[in-house]
Amino acid sequence: MCGIVGYVGEKRAQGVVVEGLRRLEYRGYDSAGIALVHDGRLAVDKRAGKLANLEKAIADDELPPASVGIGHTRWATHGPPTDRNAHPHPGREGRVAVVHNGIIENFAELREVLEDEGHELISETDTEVAAHLLEREVSAGVDLTTAMQRVCRELEGAFTLVAVDAADPSRVVAARRNSPLVVGIGEGENFLGSDVAAFIEHTREALELGQDQVVTITRDGVSVTGFDGTPAEGRRYHVDWDLSAAEKDGHDWFMRKEIYEQPRAVADSLLGRRTPTGALHLDEVRISDEELREVDKIIIVACGTSFYAGMVAKYAIEHWTRTPVEVELASEFRYRDPILNHSTLIVAISQSGETADTLQAIRHARTQRSKVLAICNTNGSTIPRESDAVIYTHAGPEIGVASTKGFLTQLVACYLLALYLAQVKGTRYGDEITEIMDQLEAMPAHIQTVLDNDSAVYELARSHVDTRSVLFLGRHAGYPVALEGALKLKELAYLHAEGFAAGELKHGPIALVEEGLPVLCVVPPRGRDQLHDKMVSGIQEVRARGARTLCIAEEGDTAILRYADELIPLPKVPVLLQPLVAVVPLQLFACELATALGHDVDQPRNLAKSVTVE
Ligand code: F6R
Repeated sequence: MCGIVGYVGEKRAQGVVVEGLRRLEYRGYDSAGIALVHDGRLAVDKRAGKLANLEKAIADDELPPASVGIGHTRWATHGPPTDRNAHPHPGREGRVAVVHNGIIENFAELREVLEDEGHELISETDTEVAAHLLEREVSAGVDLTTAMQRVCRELEGAFTLVAVDAADPSRVVAARRNSPLVVGIGEGENFLGSDVAAFIEHTREALELGQDQVVTITRDGVSVTGFDGTPAEGRRYHVDWDLSAAEKDGHDWFMRKEIYEQPRAVADSLLGRRTPTGALHLDEVRISDEELREVDKIIIVACGTSFYAGMVAKYAIEHWTRTPVEVELASEFRYRDPILNHSTLIVAISQSGETADTLQAIRHARTQRSKVLAICNTNGSTIPRESDAVIYTHAGPEIGVASTKGFLTQLVACYLLALYLAQVKGTRYGDEITEIMDQLEAMPAHIQTVLDNDSAVYELARSHVDTRSVLFLGRHAGYPVALEGALKLKELAYLHAEGFAAGELKHGPIALVEEGLPVLCVVPPRGRDQLHDKMVSGIQEVRARGARTLCIAEEGDTAILRYADELIPLPKVPVLLQPLVAVVPLQLFACELATALGHDVDQPRNLAKSVTVE
């Protein structure tokens, strides 16, 4: 939520900052702004709306050729998305400028103090108080680094702040608490960004910062301290993807590119998980086998799409390990006073690793002595850093706001965790685990088969441009897939879309069914249980009431033919792994329908990637 960029070096800062903002725009696009330091003065330009508005303004305003600058792309919290509320915010005399991500919870009282001192604050944001406080400090004679340390000690809440001082063009100073910030280390230049995409074009060397730290970048150096001024060290790492991963590569949307990257992302997430003897090996799990054997309950906490990955995980973990699993929305978790102890394992699933609700949930769990294992796609992010163990997914950067390859690779990590627990607890024989791993390793090819059939799904999507409502039905592991399909359609096509467990339909939701209503049905594979047949009954029930049934079913499923108005075939795979292929047509459907409706698929209205406020 909100993208932040800082630069000091030899290049023209305007280009570096605007390019960084372009790569971070997926984090928020309510407004954008830039502040440059040149000849002892600040030049600030900011505009409501997308970055393109700022770029147009900059072209007219001709900013100075500064080599120090900061920039911001906003997801509004305090105050509507207007020019005035756009960041950067200058201090009282226009000497300091600040950009901010997060929420300063005690801003109202700080504002009152400032106003009593005669400060005039002109925006409705919480950020402006930080600008005034910083400027008050530097005007009193301290440098910007010391000013930042002092001000941060006064602030409550979650924040990343990045600031420049017109009187000191040598440095950009930033601070973080519960909000993301990384340093990019270059030669003769250094960078700050909400994530590495901000500077990936210039350097792949990064520095991860800890909680409550202040960082100062100059052309030649980076120094880190705590809020109390004591020297600290960041963790240096090399980013293992490059600029091409942050480009659309010929696709119209990042989301579409990311859908087609899924076979590779799944394969990469499975790589290196088996030892030469065939045993499963998850090297980032820093919880001993003994501790894992003692786990008698697992609680999965996550939000949105990641929550649906957790719902699939419940089926797999319980089936393979016989350990009870609860899946809980992270935003609800700590408020219900959950029963936790040292034998409860918390699994936190988060693509970004920065989701505030999930972060607060794991912090609560750790105070209750529970161990936390994170499933995460973002190296160096807060959730894995604060967990006892982490399974990294290897999806590469996910830039489309709607999660796609993030979801599939989370599923893979959940399966791996389930099998690893089965191995440790001895609930499955080695050859059974090997067989499931073989099936998992065949999944990239199956996902590719679904993608190769994209034109049929696209045609189906385009034929629904006049639709106002779509229902999604699923059973068992197909139920979370139905929920995920509905979420994708809501967030991208802005349609009423709801997912239901097919068996629950007759307990109320079937009243929604009317003549011509499209109902997307995720049909389980035929097996020894009655899942498939029960699903067919559910499909018959909605069809009898006039629904148009769009069925996603295993190839060769002749039983479904009579009841499907449209049929999208899936490769034959085991029921627990079917979500990996069944969700793909739903992603393609939502992406194409939103495109046909003329929506911005990568930047859906009101949303932002990485939800860093509760
Ligand atoms: C939907 C989507 C969101 C995220 C949710 C959690 O397409 O992307 O629902 O899944 O905000 O985000 P992470 O996984 O980063 O914690």
